[in-house]
Amino acid sequence: MTRVTLIKGRELEDLLKPEILIPEIEQAFIKYSRGETVSPPRTVMWIEGNWWGVMQSYVPGYGVGVKVVSLIPQNPSRGLPSIQALVVLFDEIMGSPVALMEGGILTALRTGAASAVSVKYMAPSELGPIGIIGTGFQARYQLKFIASVYKSDEVVIHDLRSDAARSFKSWAEGIGFRVLEASSHEDLVRRSRVIVESSTTREPVILGKWLDKNQHVVSIGAHATNHRALDDEALSRFSKIVVDSRKAVLEETGDIRVPLEQGIIKIDKIAELGEVAANVRKGREGDELTLFKSVGLAIQDACAATLAYRLAKTKGLGIEVEL
Ligand SMILES: NC(=O)c1ccc[n+]([C@@H]2O[C@H](COP(=O)([O-])OP(=O)(O)OC[C@H]3O[C@@H](n4cnc5c(N)ncnc54)[C@H](O)[C@@H]3O)[C@@H](O)[C@H]2O)c1
Repeated sequence: MTRVTLIKGRELEDLLKPEILIPEIEQAFIKYSRGETVSPPRTVMWIEGNWWGVMQSYVPGYGVGVKVVSLIPQNPSRGLPSIQALVVLFDEIMGSPVALMEGGILTALRTGAASAVSVKYMAPSELGPIGIIGTGFQARYQLKFIASVYKSDEVVIHDLRSDAARSFKSWAEGIGFRVLEASSHEDLVRRSRVIVESSTTREPVILGKWLDKNQHVVSIGAHATNHRALDDEALSRFSKIVVDSRKAVLEETGDIRVPLEQGIIKIDKIAELGEVAANVRKGREGDELTLFKSVGLAIQDACAATLAYRLAKTKGLGIEVEL
């Protein structure tokens, strides 16, 4: 009889601490960029005007993971998270399902871990404020993971929803950060050393003319070929552009597709995170303006889910169910 372990979101938070997850996600990216993973493009569906994805992959040394995920930007007003998901993990030899887990928190954890890997290789050497545009669900995980490798305790925030900014501020202050609310996107960009865009914007919120020569930008939003979080001038100003997957960003974000089509950037300027982590391409070299743009890969889910399953087994967490 097949036995599956059910793992709750709260348990994932306890199991996948930044210091545990970041190095594993880094390894998964290295395997991905070396072509060692099985990672067909995700199936993207637009249902009732909203983005849905089915994401599947096999990461050797980890397992086979499949995630079904929806992104409903109106959900916070219903008291629900924008991103909801389930992840199923399978044994790669026998094909048996071994675990089923909450996928919204898993997504936020693995996305925070990927951003932290980029910061590890590209953050400016001098410490300065971490700026966050869009203080919703992802933002807390972005801050926790990034601040575990870039030890700033100062945060600058901006959100169109004042309730989201307020709630983020009291959460971040509660765990020891000093939080300033910026008056505009421009104010935030000019004050920050590491800038995180974790919003649901469809129009640029980071303009090139506001950027300085010694900043690192992490952009996780703008997930459609006509959506932008950064303007063309910003793209033209980065001396290094690092992405989670060249193939995926070309297919899934206007931030890379449009400037490439218009000749504003060239494909050979774009490196993958796994190439930087493996030292095949360079991370930061002195005072530079750098970008990490991600759309999210199934390898991150498979890696994080396997790790959570293994840790849950050793710690006696999760509930075993016979199918
Ligand atoms: N790259 C990845 O791997 C990855 C993974 C998960 C989520 N995401 C993306 O991260 C983004 C945020 O997701 P979430 O779950 O935190 O959503 P959320 O709805 O919880 O939060 C988004 C926040 O952005 C704010 N916002 C929207 N437009 C803005 C603007 N112009 N200026 C300032 N703030 C603005 C909203 O008010 C909201 O508070 C989404 O675009 C999602 O697709 C990316």
